[in-house]
Amino acid sequence: MTTVVEWWNIHPEHAWLRGDRPATPVEFDEAQGVWNVYGHAECLEILNNHETFSSDLTRLLPVGVDDSLIEGDISQMDPPVHRKYRSLVSRAFTPRLVGAMESRVVDITNELLDAVEGKPEIEIAADLAYPLPVIVIAELLGVPAADRDLFRKWADDVVESFSGFSFLDGSEQGEKDIRDATQRLRPLIDYMAGHLAERRSRPREDLLSRLALAEVDGERLTDNEIVNVANILLVTGHITTTMTLGNTVLCLDAHPEQAARVRADRSLVPGAIEEALRTLSPSAALARGTTRDVEIGGTRIPKDQIVMLWLAAANRDPLRFPDPEVYDPARDPNPHFGFGRGIHFCLGAGLARLEGRIALNALLDRFPVLRTDPAKPPTFFPTPDMVGVNTLPLHTS
Ligand code: HEM
Repeated sequence: MTTVVEWWNIHPEHAWLRGDRPATPVEFDEAQGVWNVYGHAECLEILNNHETFSSDLTRLLPVGVDDSLIEGDISQMDPPVHRKYRSLVSRAFTPRLVGAMESRVVDITNELLDAVEGKPEIEIAADLAYPLPVIVIAELLGVPAADRDLFRKWADDVVESFSGFSFLDGSEQGEKDIRDATQRLRPLIDYMAGHLAERRSRPREDLLSRLALAEVDGERLTDNEIVNVANILLVTGHITTTMTLGNTVLCLDAHPEQAARVRADRSLVPGAIEEALRTLSPSAALARGTTRDVEIGGTRIPKDQIVMLWLAAANRDPLRFPDPEVYDPARDPNPHFGFGRGIHFCLGAGLARLEGRIALNALLDRFPVLRTDPAKPPTFFPTPDMVGVNTLPLHTS
């Protein structure tokens, strides 16, 4: 059986994407000076133990990070501060607000697909998978969706400024990457700060205004924190959603029998997306730092070490998933870590799932054929901790 990974040669350096399991579920990487964790049980144990495995890595990184850039970044906080900030952000970003977006997501999807109606070829990222989540999050935040080409440029700039995990090894390259990324973030920070200042004087019914007004224990977020939160929602929220939709279509292309099954039974659409999140996980790795000596999977990890959780490898662990290399939209249960687990579980999972379901259904409704062309292969994000399509040209007839 040739899998989608082998067919398109996705991340040749990740053997575990090809069914080869590392010898042990936890390994020390001498070159990077980090501990790699590949097993599902081991990742679960770590994700559920935030006291021993901290999300605040600043004290462990060999290169300095400008503190003002991470203020308000809940993904890098530990309790009790994390609890407070997460509750502030989730008060603004409620399931009700997301649910209320459903009809708008349908309209945006239809507008985007109307624009390519009748074309024999589409490029799914540019035509749908990129603009859809970015328009939705821009509208939620209350910034002009028409600026989306700018958001893409800024997001791509930040992703491109990191060459692998150079920031972990204390090298000159790592210092340079952090400096570059900081510089490249500046226009996005200034842009969001401008919109926030406007909301402070004239609040509206949008997420930016809600973030400005949200209170926990009588305290509000500072301007800098709100700008960082908004930028995280804008940037991390759309890249991963774009990849998920592209990855799902790529999986269906590689497995025509499963595509026919999903077309015939649309109740399998959510499962098709979950299975793409499992087998091609956009957030392929997360980092944590140990706060004490600890034993995981029979391996002792000392205090103050960086641990890389390879979610994408854990999502293919045969000890947790029967036939892990098989793409099965009906897989049940499917306890993958595509959206993480524990106290940092993705705040945008509901929104990403909603967008994926609506977009995939619309694609299947409109195009009886969605087929890759070996002459125009898809391209993938090159960073090792992301697994997903960047561009995906498709024939529609
Ligand atoms: C399919 C698309 C997405 C994927 C695969 C994804 C993946 C993840 C993962 C793995 C985490 C856990 C990080 C950790 O434990 O350190 C996370 C957290 C987070 N995600 Fe997502 N995400 C997606 C979409 C979104 C969207 C659409 C938004 C918002 C608009 C969003 C906002 C967040 C936030 C704010 C956190 C941090 C939560 C916390 O630390 O408490 N994500 N995401």
